[in-house]
Parts: sequence; C-alpha cells; structure tokens
Amino acid sequence: MRSNHFSGKFLLATLAIIFLIMFMVGCSKTLNTSADSLYVPTASDATASVTLADLQAGRNIYINNCAKCHTLYPIINVPSSVIPTMASRAGLSATETSQVTKYINLRK
Ligand code: HEC
Repeated sequence: MRSNHFSGKFLLATLAIIFLIMFMVGCSKTLNTSADSLYVPTASDATASVTLADLQAGRNIYINNCAKCHTLYPIINVPSSVIPTMASRAGLSATETSQVTKYINLRK
C-alpha cells in the first residue's frame, strides 16, 4: 500500500514536469512568430513594390550581418534612420541594403 501511494505522487510529479516543459516550449514558439528579432516574413507581407523573396533575403542578411558588433536588435527597435550607417558598417551592397531595409521596415 505504502509503495503505491509513493508511486502515485511520483507519477503526478512527472506529469507536472512534462506539462511545465510543454508550457515553456509553447511560449518560445509564440515569441518566434511575433514581432521579435527573427520575424519570418510570409506571402501576406509582400506588396506591389516588395517581394517575399526580397524580405526573405533581407532577413538572412539581417541575421548574418547585423550581429557582428552588437546583439541582434529586435527589428521593431531598429530606427529606419540608422540603417544606412549600419549597412555601410556591415559592408552591404546596394541591393543587400535595399533588401535588409525592406525587412526591418516590415515592423514599422
Ligand atoms: C562594424 C560594426 C557594426 C555592424 C556590422 C553593425 N553595427 Fe549597428 N552599431 C554599431 C555600433 C558601434 C553602434 C553604437 C552606436 C553608434 O556608434 O552609432 C551600433 C548601434 C546600432 C543600433 C542602435 C542605434 C541607436 O541609435 O540606438 C542599431 C539599431 C543598430 N546598430 C543596428 C544595426 C543593423 C540593422 C546592422 C546591420 C545592417 C548593424 N547594426 C550592423 C556597429 C555595428
């Protein structure tokens, strides 16, 4: 009897830990799809002048070039006015600068 009582508690504790982990995983997924630093553009973000391919390229450029000297800022915290200076510091071409600007300005 005593050992059954113990394993019941153990089972409850195990379930509690599993739920806690699922809850934490759920939260991190929510963060990744919202306006955080790595926002993933979708077809609905494209406009007449901005293609989805531009936005996807801009995201890759952002991730690969904008965290060399400091942390990757959430794109909502990157003022449009600093992009030209930062793009030249990162050594981006005119096309890359245009794409990364379109991506960053998605969240303005
Ligand atoms: C060669 C180093 C370097 C690279 C590459 C770089 N930055 Fe910066 N960044 C800096 C420095 C240094 C500062 C500190 C403020 C200043 O000197 O303007 C800064 C500051 C910033 C700030 C804060 C500006 C403010 O006024 O609050 C933002 C936002 C930013 N960078 C975005 C970017 C983006 C976007 C990219 C990629 C296109 C990028 N950075 C690439 C060096 C860099």
